Amino acid sequence: MTGKLVVVSNRIPTGATPSGGLVVAVHDALTRSGGLWVGAHPDEGTPDQDGLTEIASGDYTRLAFHLTPEEYDSYYLGFANSVLWPLCHGRVDLVDIERGFEETYLAVNARVARLLADQIGEGDIVWVHDYHFLPLASELRKLGITARIGFFLHIPFPPLGALSTLPSPDDFAEWLSAYDLVGLQTRRDTASCLEMFRADPRAEFMTDGSVKFRDRSVSVRSFPIGIDAESFAEAAAVEGPDAELGIDMHEDLVIGVDRLDYSKGLPNRFRAFGKFLDSRAGTGRRASLLQIAPPTRERVAAYRAIRTELEEIAGRLNGEHAELDWTPIRYIHRGVERDTLARLHRRARACLVTSLADGMNLVAKEYVAAQDPEDPGVLILSRFAGAAEDMTEALLVNPYDIDETSEAIETAITMPLEERRRRHAHSLGVVHATNVTDWAQSFVSCLKTCTPTLDYRRAQ
Ligand code: ADP
Ligand code: F6P
Repeated sequence: MTGKLVVVSNRIPTGATPSGGLVVAVHDALTRSGGLWVGAHPDEGTPDQDGLTEIASGDYTRLAFHLTPEEYDSYYLGFANSVLWPLCHGRVDLVDIERGFEETYLAVNARVARLLADQIGEGDIVWVHDYHFLPLASELRKLGITARIGFFLHIPFPPLGALSTLPSPDDFAEWLSAYDLVGLQTRRDTASCLEMFRADPRAEFMTDGSVKFRDRSVSVRSFPIGIDAESFAEAAAVEGPDAELGIDMHEDLVIGVDRLDYSKGLPNRFRAFGKFLDSRAGTGRRASLLQIAPPTRERVAAYRAIRTELEEIAGRLNGEHAELDWTPIRYIHRGVERDTLARLHRRARACLVTSLADGMNLVAKEYVAAQDPEDPGVLILSRFAGAAEDMTEALLVNPYDIDETSEAIETAITMPLEERRRRHAHSLGVVHATNVTDWAQSFVSCLKTCTPTLDYRRAQ
């Protein structure tokens, strides 16, 4: 008998039409299959409240657990976003270990496991998302849950050496071994995860490719996440006056869309754009960078610091290059409606994705999906974004190299139509081959059987 799909993630959609990579993808999967989604209540740090609250429902049920203000600080801002996030994004220098962080992280996972255990019926399968819940399966196993449990990490898998920064480094492998299936974004992440198990004397490799760890066995595979390309392309193609979008079509528009996170390489991006403006000085040719960067995790010091740094660079570059009727860098520090975003992407001649580390980067896929295939813009993509593993015909750059990135902007804007079409067709093939529906279906069906199989991507 097949039971329901139970999903757990920290972030859970509250409205009818969710936005953001993880929530859009999972919403799509649950809308088709029905089931249950458990996540943190959107009111950050609510006073003590035990139990699960129904927050919204439709094709599936959504239940929320509550975090006290102390839990919000130590579990979400603390261990998840001041320890695990920088660790996985290659910023060990930003790892901030405080005594209570790990303790609270484990306590929240144990409590969520207890609440979840009551919801798991016979034949149900459980799909856990992201670094907030690494120990969740291990907590569920302690409670006697034998259901199949899968884990998907949306961010990069940490390099082996970085794991020793953790207060209890050996826990990482232990936590993951309690799952039946561990899904990662890229082949490189899969290799890093297997390297961790290989280095662990408690792990043993089986002939079918799975890892035996104590009395359990876990499969590790890549499932590159994607988007709903059709609906994004549809929204992008909606006609309307450019003035409505605030665009002067006499300028070359370059776009960037990212949460204001230090992993996204925004200061380097602005510096590269500044170099590009320098190279154009005196030619009379204008180009603007539209950077949409909504705030995120602002109570963490590193996020406040990146905001200050970016505002300083934007102010300086605009001071140097702006004219009475032209501001070269427009920086918007808030979210923008998805449909507007799609239309802006379509009008931009180039998109800058300059992550210093990134699990996948869905913005890269959204930009490609939004283009007019007859006259497409050019994606400039960091080699360090997961998307670069397959989108090899984007203009790949090393975001640490300001000159290379600046030259790529010039190359993108002046690229002949035929080359733009060729590169775009390849990238669009990747976007279609990794669409979000296939991503979710293949993870769930692999979790049901857990036999390591070939990659789910459709042949191109
Ligand atoms: P991450 O998960 O690290 O934030 P991704 O690029 O994978 O990065 O996913 C970000 C998602 O959030 C994309 O779907 C993107 O369109 C959306 N997004 C990012 N910035 C904004 C914004 N300013 N307004 C609306 N949506 C945004
Ligand atoms: O994709 C990585 C991720 O951390 C998701 O888990 C999360 O939903 C998204 O980025 C935004 O982060 P947050 O939920 O902390 O705002």
